Amino acid sequence: MEPFPQHLLGIETLTRAQIDALLLLAAGYKRERREAREGNRDALDAHRRVLAGRTVVTLFFEASTRTRSSFEVAARSLGADVIALQKEGSSVSKGETLADTAKNLEAASADALVMRHPFSGAPHLVAREVRCPVINAGDGAHEHPTQALLDALSLREHLGDLTGKTIAIIGDLAHSRVARSNLHCLNKLGARVRVGGPATLIPMGIEKLGCTVHHTLAETIAGADAVMCLRIQQERIGDARLPSTRDYARRWGFTQAHLDSLAKHAVVMHPGPVNRGVEIVSEVLDGPRSLVMDQVDSGVAVRMAALALCLGRAGAKR
Ligand code: NCD
Repeated sequence: MEPFPQHLLGIETLTRAQIDALLLLAAGYKRERREAREGNRDALDAHRRVLAGRTVVTLFFEASTRTRSSFEVAARSLGADVIALQKEGSSVSKGETLADTAKNLEAASADALVMRHPFSGAPHLVAREVRCPVINAGDGAHEHPTQALLDALSLREHLGDLTGKTIAIIGDLAHSRVARSNLHCLNKLGARVRVGGPATLIPMGIEKLGCTVHHTLAETIAGADAVMCLRIQQERIGDARLPSTRDYARRWGFTQAHLDSLAKHAVVMHPGPVNRGVEIVSEVLDGPRSLVMDQVDSGVAVRMAALALCLGRAGAKR
């Protein structure tokens, strides 16, 4: 099998075979997590040796609920020790450079760094400075590879092979790393991608990433097997409120009527955090065709697979 890369920095540089290998491993972990919840812990317990004696450091310079907690659960499920650092509690807040922080963590025996940073490319910079694997948990508006992989895992479980399936992505395509990683991932998996959102939030030339661009919600979701709603990344847009929340909800908010217009098998997704009543109404979010909680479950399994593959390739401490 084609080796998995040492660092997981983005989907753009992964091959289809590498994505398939990770999703296969993650699907197994997800099934075993389900069995463990039903009382059979044997398979899951056996994985505690995979990263026994290893230390995974999570280094988060931006807010996170799902991503950080699921990386930590994933690392612990494989037997690793976890050290969780945030900007406020680390010496970065005293002026230390990111590269120095990372090198010091490695010297203190980090076997992998899981990193979220507001600047695009920050994990790539760190990966050049350290020898241990670096996993990108979201860099600016660039990539969020494990999010796209967990979305793919949930999508495949519900729709089967994604070849020829139509996935609509709605919202802030300009600032969303989730959208960018998903465009790469869905295209590599053979899906057709339609995108739509306010004109100011659809970057020029996005078609080159493999999608068609649409200008109303109804048009964007036409024929979709799955609809992915995104949060407006206000923290990356700044003060220009484009558009107002109320205006966005009226034009681009996903409602029950939109869901009813889709095929019976079609599902709705959101990476979280959700602004209820803005990107999506609660009735749909909490309804039977929402994959939102399943996406969180997939997240732990995908992050287990990412850690196992990146650290597995790295072998014993080099
Ligand atoms: C996303 C992120 O941080 O990029 N959230 C996540 O990881 N689940 C999406 C967002 O913040 O809107």
